[in-house]
Amino acid sequence: MPTILAIETSCDETAVAIGNNRQVCSNIISSQIPIHQQYGGVVPEVASRQHLETLNYEITQAMESSGLGWNDIDAIAATCAPGLVGALLVGLMAAKTLAMVHHKPFLGVHHLEGHIYANYLAEPSLNPPFLSLLVSGGHTSLIYVKDCGVYETLGETRDDAAGEAFDKVARLLKLGYPGGPIIDKLARNGNPQAFVFPEGKISLPQGGYHPYDCSFSGVKTAVMRLVQQLERDGQEISLPDIAASFQYTVVRALTKRAIACARNYGLDTIAIGGGVAANSGLREQLQTAAAEHNIRVLFPPLKYCTDNAAMIACAAAEHFSRGHISPITLGVHSRLSLSQVMKLYELVE
Ligand code: KG4
Ligand code: ZN
Repeated sequence: MPTILAIETSCDETAVAIGNNRQVCSNIISSQIPIHQQYGGVVPEVASRQHLETLNYEITQAMESSGLGWNDIDAIAATCAPGLVGALLVGLMAAKTLAMVHHKPFLGVHHLEGHIYANYLAEPSLNPPFLSLLVSGGHTSLIYVKDCGVYETLGETRDDAAGEAFDKVARLLKLGYPGGPIIDKLARNGNPQAFVFPEGKISLPQGGYHPYDCSFSGVKTAVMRLVQQLERDGQEISLPDIAASFQYTVVRALTKRAIACARNYGLDTIAIGGGVAANSGLREQLQTAAAEHNIRVLFPPLKYCTDNAAMIACAAAEHFSRGHISPITLGVHSRLSLSQVMKLYELVE
């Protein structure tokens, strides 16, 4: 089973991990959240510079805490798409340099494939086919996982990602960044039925609605209008009620689509990934709805749901064991659909 050193720098976490197939040997991560908090969101240039400052130290730490030497490492991997270009480049260049210096094969990894593979770390016996619900600050998608490198996106957001909606609503309510955990906590003391917000359905040209696509920009605007209205009328603004109603709307949209998708495609497992997987409302509503239809829901531990390099090592290990490696000339891509994953590899017999 291959042992991989992997680097993840696609956004605001600098992460290095060593994995042996579906086992984690070391998992180092440093979050930049406190640095970006003062700007109310991730500043790409600041993120790249921060990756540069912490990466070498983390590589040393990952090697030391794994107890392995360079001879034990079979290949070096880095996230190469999608993400912030400058941030991705830092990790990719570091991985290529390590690969060249230590004469190891190099693999570029698709960040979302990494999020899917996080589920194998928590549940090593898991195997395709299954449905993956990816809900993070940058992505919201329902993915039919058919095999390693074989994905079909069945549904996605047409505008804001779910986590982005949480962050934007928290910003307009002046609650701070990142908004998800703050809204989640406030919502526990609020009434989810206090306000009715739109669900964000996507109309189809032939009539009806897209069964799996969603939209979160409407609910964000509705919250903004409500706050403006309450302020104009001099009424009290109950933050817990707004938080609970907003969260309920987002979670209901995600739950409905995930369950419909799994049922229509005959998939008995929904595997979750991304930071929004931490949301207590999502965990509760999705698990309850899934149980009614005998669908299993996997929520990996949070350290593997949010951005980390262990999931990148796990995805790279599977590709490597199938003879896939990347050309050393591989570049970064700010956008790359999951259906294009195999373009990152050459087959080496
Ligand atoms: O996966 P992640 O760590 O980073 C990427 O975006 O790739 O996800 C971060 C997102 C943020 O938008 C954050 O607000 C959201 O996950 N989040 C939550 C919760 N914890 C984090 N959203 C809702 N409820 C939470 N408890
Ligand atoms: Zn992510």
